[in-house]
Amino acid sequence: MVKGVPITASYFCQNNHLTVSLMSVIIEPFRIKSVEPIFFTTKEERAAILRNASYNPFLMRAEHVMIDLLTDSGTSAMSSAQWAGVMLGDESYAGSKSFFHFEKAIQDITGLPIVIPTHQGRAAEKILFSQLGGKGKFIVSNTLFDTTRANIEFSGATGVDMLCAEGKIPSIPAPFKGNIDIVALEAFIEEKGAENIPLCIITVTNNSGGGQPVSMQNIRDTSVICKKYGIPLFLDACRFAENCFFIKMREQEFANMAVAKIAAEMFSYADGCTMSAKKDSFANIGGFIALRDEKLALECRNLLIITEGFPTYGGLAGRDLEAIAIGLHEVLDENYLQYRIRSTEYLTEKLIAAGVPVMQPAGGHAVYLDAKAFLPHIPPSQYPGQALACALYREGGIRSVEIGSLMFGKYDNEGALIPAMMELVRLAIPRRVYTQSHIDYVAEIIIQVFQHRSAIKGMKIVYEAPMLRHFTAMLEEIE
Ligand code: F0G
Repeated sequence: MVKGVPITASYFCQNNHLTVSLMSVIIEPFRIKSVEPIFFTTKEERAAILRNASYNPFLMRAEHVMIDLLTDSGTSAMSSAQWAGVMLGDESYAGSKSFFHFEKAIQDITGLPIVIPTHQGRAAEKILFSQLGGKGKFIVSNTLFDTTRANIEFSGATGVDMLCAEGKIPSIPAPFKGNIDIVALEAFIEEKGAENIPLCIITVTNNSGGGQPVSMQNIRDTSVICKKYGIPLFLDACRFAENCFFIKMREQEFANMAVAKIAAEMFSYADGCTMSAKKDSFANIGGFIALRDEKLALECRNLLIITEGFPTYGGLAGRDLEAIAIGLHEVLDENYLQYRIRSTEYLTEKLIAAGVPVMQPAGGHAVYLDAKAFLPHIPPSQYPGQALACALYREGGIRSVEIGSLMFGKYDNEGALIPAMMELVRLAIPRRVYTQSHIDYVAEIIIQVFQHRSAIKGMKIVYEAPMLRHFTAMLEEIE
């Protein structure tokens, strides 16, 4: 990966001075030291596998997948430095040396003084919203990720998305489609009363809205409003480095600033963050809460001890803490970030050239197919995103995930589906895992499926769980 001059550099922001190279071929900024085999399957085998998995890619065996783009979470390749850190992990129950490395890395990068480790992002969410959520409360966001929303709702509170208008239209490019709608935010606070809004949380980058970035200006504006009404502002910081690189590329003021400095400024507006270290720190497991409020931290730690573990390991082994601490610094390498952002852009460009409807511009960690436009003959009630995800698997062994009405749909009182805002299929690119030829293959398969799209059938659900149903739902094709 990845051929071509990065268009991002000149896309929205003129006069951009990169600290990284602008060669016409952006090479992977690593060499490969250890490899994992891919097992090949035939189309007939895949059709049977899909049937056995009830048309839900979450329910198939990973070894039956050729290119796994289900998630970029926990699937990264760790560096030799991280593996060396694994060997140095201090497994002491309390006060482990690795915890202090972990704590320092987070403090150095975010400026947030209090660090609470958790075993992954949703554990951080569970702990935070157990303290701040509850019946009658509203947690506002640009767009909540599914586990974030589920943890808010589990606490009895209501999660409210306020994405900017341009973020809701996949086909229209704009630099910061992850921005929160500031006007809607203030109007909502006035309507519901600040006392009923214990938290505003901005997801960077906005995963459920296409991996789109949030501008520094938008974070500043949000922080001004939150301060005015006394509402704490948190970041869901899973992909903070990717967001900061977009800020450098697209927000004039930051064109010459190091990404690490951009990150420091971004976190300076926040009262805290939740983080899944399975994304922008290349770890296979891990997460944390970082914050400024001592009292809230004390309450979070009390719950942490019951659910995750002692506050210096929080559900992680010392070796995990060490790998995360190292990864958090590695992810701020601008040669890496340029290659990373270019990877998704390269796939998006290929698809656009073939007329495939995709979210534009490319997201940071993933390419999102617009299933509504891809399969106009399948209504949202027949889950076009899921139908497309299944078609990609059958055609080429590619695993992706629906982010549409299967994931976010609700039922009204009559039991009719209230569809999601968008019907997307996400192809998440694991960090430092696949090369350009893998991505070329993915493009080829998607284009093939697109050319035969009218043969793809809609789907119906035959089993669903009451929460986060997309993980375990069973479906059938509608004949
Ligand atoms: N917030 C965001 C924005 C996420 O993308 C995720 C996970 C979480 C929170 C929860 O973190 O998995 O460590 O518990 N996203 C993964 C994904 C699962 O595939 O996008 P976790």
